Amino acid sequence: MSGLNFDVITLFPKAFELINNLGVITRALDNNLINLNLHDLREFGEGCYRQVDDKPYGGGSGMVLKPGPIFEAHDSINKTSKSKTILMTPQGKVLKQKDFIRWTSLDQLIIICGQYEGFDERVRCLADEEISIGDYVLSGGEIPAITIINGVTRLLPGTLGDPKSLLDESHNNFLLEYPHYTRPLIFREMKVPDILISGNHKEIKLWRKTKMYERTLLKRNDLIKGVNGSDFHQRNSDSSDNLKFYLQEENVYPDW
Ligand code: ADE
Repeated sequence: MSGLNFDVITLFPKAFELINNLGVITRALDNNLINLNLHDLREFGEGCYRQVDDKPYGGGSGMVLKPGPIFEAHDSINKTSKSKTILMTPQGKVLKQKDFIRWTSLDQLIIICGQYEGFDERVRCLADEEISIGDYVLSGGEIPAITIINGVTRLLPGTLGDPKSLLDESHNNFLLEYPHYTRPLIFREMKVPDILISGNHKEIKLWRKTKMYERTLLKRNDLIKGVNGSDFHQRNSDSSDNLKFYLQEENVYPDW
């Protein structure tokens, strides 16, 4: 099958109905840029009750997802040549924009959603990567999985109406995006900055670049910390390489 395949192992396939109402993501599905294959963990449950969880060895509260059904579900998926398996867990590496960019080069992303109190430790060996969407705990991995599907899909060529809008946006260059305005010129006594209606494109470009630095310093100083160090330049060039396919015109990409 062409397009990027998302294969999701979940106890709650209905949670993914949201994807059918998510604008560009829905369009990507309709245009076969992505395929979403849901694997209902319950179908791989054990015994006549299709049991997927059990009490933890050693005691303690809550239930733990059994390894058997998850392994069976994972084994049942046809793997493509460029396939990765990621496990959604608050113990994983915290998700960054550069991860979305990295995964656009795959043809299959298998996502395992955890549930309840957790999953049997032996499930970890199925995963190439363990990913957290932030330092907080949700009831399961479905919302994190939808986050990943959304973040990767909108980067795929042909998904966005105007792919150039990806270039300046927050986090692509480890700087936050500049402020945007549209009509009306004055709204509740708040006026659009004069520079944006000056028609001077060179000055506008400079103003936007300055705003990106100002905003990042003010709101997310942590992103800019390495700006003079090799770390920043290394990370910056990684993402620009991966985004080159969006460049159709010269001087579109910010020249840091
Ligand atoms: N499952 C529960 N909380 C999570 C988180 N923050 N990230 C990924 N998976 C999770």
